[in-house]
Amino acid sequence: MRAPFQAPMEGLPDRVTIYEVGPRDGLQNESAILPVEVKAELVARLARAGLATIEATSFVHPKWVPQLADAEELLGRLDRVPGVRYPVLVPNERGLDRALGLGVTDIAIFGSATETFARRNLNRSVDGSIEMFTPVVERALDAGLAVRAYLSMCFGDPWEGPVPVEQVVRHGRRLLDLGCSQLSLGDTIGVGTPGHVTALLRAFAEAGVGPERLAVHFHDTYGQALANTLSALRAGVTVVDASAGGIGGCPYAQSATGNLATEDLVWMLSGLGVETGVDLESLVGTSVWLAGELGRPSPSRVVQALAGKPPAEEEE
Ligand code: HMG
Ligand code: MG
Repeated sequence: MRAPFQAPMEGLPDRVTIYEVGPRDGLQNESAILPVEVKAELVARLARAGLATIEATSFVHPKWVPQLADAEELLGRLDRVPGVRYPVLVPNERGLDRALGLGVTDIAIFGSATETFARRNLNRSVDGSIEMFTPVVERALDAGLAVRAYLSMCFGDPWEGPVPVEQVVRHGRRLLDLGCSQLSLGDTIGVGTPGHVTALLRAFAEAGVGPERLAVHFHDTYGQALANTLSALRAGVTVVDASAGGIGGCPYAQSATGNLATEDLVWMLSGLGVETGVDLESLVGTSVWLAGELGRPSPSRVVQALAGKPPAEEEE
């Protein structure tokens, strides 16, 4: 399969951890609800492609996200590969009760940098959601689980408009202060641009939160996700969220589209000589297969460029 010319750039990490969110963020926003065995196969294929962190599903209210209502059944079917982590989203104690005992080792809570999205996504205020998360994080840490926190609407909110950097830092710190080991900064509606990413990461660093505690989670609505990622890498971030084939969005955020496609990320990082451990050919094959299951083509440019081309045509 065609591969990019390798030309490293200064100031980038040697290795990036890709936090794959396709089975969760991707599938939660697809109109087609996939059978549980297809989801299990997706997770298995992603692991075979070399992804070492695969967010598998959500323990949210099944009425809120019917696409992932089979979370228990999926976890029962996961063929866990040693060394691969399978985090799940957990909003509240009820979600944690459901997840515990199913072999879960990593969970993620998900807060909001804005009041409107907190209400729309979690049915409570920002303060109310912190109250909801507090016992979840405490109990998860006591049970020996790793806890990540997401913060949504870090760059803009469809109802409130631009979100001040100080507000994002304030709410992000509250989530970290609960005891979460990592904060993933969500550009839920994809409106961020590279200078904004730099400014936000600088503001976090000035508030005592360095890039080693942060991850970035870009949706590609305005085609900025890769540029934003490069900005984050230059600021020292080494964990990047992405979704195989670029599927996904958020059902509770107007105009949220798919995440940064994992293939687009791997192509760029491979060209930059940054290690990911991911086999691009195997991943593209997975996204082509997934597109067939979903009944719509992958929005990823790299998948479109590489998929289904006979070697002769590819080499022209
Ligand atoms: P609520 O209605 O306020 O819940 O929803 P409640 O605590 O009032 O409970 C009401 C009923 O729901 C009770 O049942 C609970 O047991 C039940 P009853 O006693 O009436 O029979 N219940 C549950 N059942 C199953 N699993 C649960 C659960 N919790 C309560 N976990 C809630 C609050 C948080 C549950 C709801 O708002 C919810 O599920 N929200 C999730 C929305 C969501 O999943 N959004 C997408 C993920 S976030 C995202 O995509 C952004 C991200 O990618 C980053 C980015 O891009 O920015 C992470
Ligand atoms: Mg998301």
